[in-house]
Amino acid sequence: MMKIAIVGASGYAARELFEILLNHPDARITVATSRRDEAPRVEESHPGLAGRISLECTPFDVDRIAADADLAFLALPHTASLEVVPALRSKGVKVIDLSADYRIKNAQVYEQWYGHAHTDPAGLSEAIYGLPELFRDRIPAASLIANPGCYTSAGILGLAPLVAEGLVDPKSIIIDAMSGVSGAGRAPKPNLHFPECNESVVAYSVGNHRHTPEIEHILSEVGGEAVETLFTPHLIPMDRGINATIHAEPRSTVVEASLVELYRSFYHASPFIRVCARIPATKDSARTNFCDVAPKVVRGRIIIFSCLDNLIKGAAGVAVQNMNLMFGYPETTGFWRL
Ligand SMILES: NC(=O)c1ccc[n+]([C@@H]2O[C@H](COP(=O)([O-])OP(=O)(O)OC[C@H]3O[C@@H](n4cnc5c(N)ncnc54)[C@H](OP(=O)(O)O)[C@@H]3O)[C@@H](O)[C@H]2O)c1
Repeated sequence: MMKIAIVGASGYAARELFEILLNHPDARITVATSRRDEAPRVEESHPGLAGRISLECTPFDVDRIAADADLAFLALPHTASLEVVPALRSKGVKVIDLSADYRIKNAQVYEQWYGHAHTDPAGLSEAIYGLPELFRDRIPAASLIANPGCYTSAGILGLAPLVAEGLVDPKSIIIDAMSGVSGAGRAPKPNLHFPECNESVVAYSVGNHRHTPEIEHILSEVGGEAVETLFTPHLIPMDRGINATIHAEPRSTVVEASLVELYRSFYHASPFIRVCARIPATKDSARTNFCDVAPKVVRGRIIIFSCLDNLIKGAAGVAVQNMNLMFGYPETTGFWRL
């Protein structure tokens, strides 16, 4: 039985961690943390979990976590993880960090994009990027997982087969992606108020979204050559889900049926990737750990459609996949829809 701590237990990603882990036959949640003086119980923060869990939230205490947990999921905003990861690791606790703090290997690039110096170079050098579909063999030995971003997973999983095979011009890639509002977390912000975002679609962080260097770094590793992307995120009025519509120029003539075959072969050992003949909709993968991908050829150019649930395949679901691999369980253990 794995004993689990969830740090940042009142947030949206944490809620999905509870949901999945309560379904896991070999995981027991022993610690949940919150900074608040009068911390709500887990079932008060997440009323939908009432009757399934009864657990007090306590302040972060590294000794308590080390005594009561084998693994800590950190569902904290970026930069907050930098303070707690070294403390947990010094006590032998394995960590899966859902924030961006350990995803970008180059500390200067991290500082440039996140506006904060990286204060844990040892952790950064040891962290494994936890995208099982690409790095499955690295995860079992990891003690620190940098869980991928939600837009990044949609983009990378949509492009990886093409980039790995060198089929597209690596500087031609355009990712237009749309996310539901839960992608911004639970803390209220003016642009996330219902009257502001309902019945409206808006692009944001044009040319400077923080997932850009993560996508480029991972795809460059996959392809063995520098990949550049024009990535434009959009906020759309739904609770959850990401749709990425991705354009890339083929290096030579391509046939759609061959691309579908390539994707099926590339992901044949990946139970959470569904290569679709139809165009996927966000509803198809909502509340599941699936990423649906569909490559198409239109007028000789490639368009890939990639959909996932930002809170599950984009956050908590892939985190539990990583946990399963770290502790020797089948990757699919604990997931309720397959
Ligand atoms: N939302 C998504 O779709 C998504 C997808 C992929 C990755 N992520 C990443 O996952 C992490 C959690 O995201 P989320 O959407 O769950 O965020 P969230 O809903 O805002 O929850 C974050 C939680 O962390 C705690 N917290 C906030 N500021 C803190 C600080 N400075 N120090 C310590 N604790 C703090 C808060 O709990 P208390 O107030 O109770 O302490 C809060 O409930 C983020 O790094 C995010 O980028 C999110």
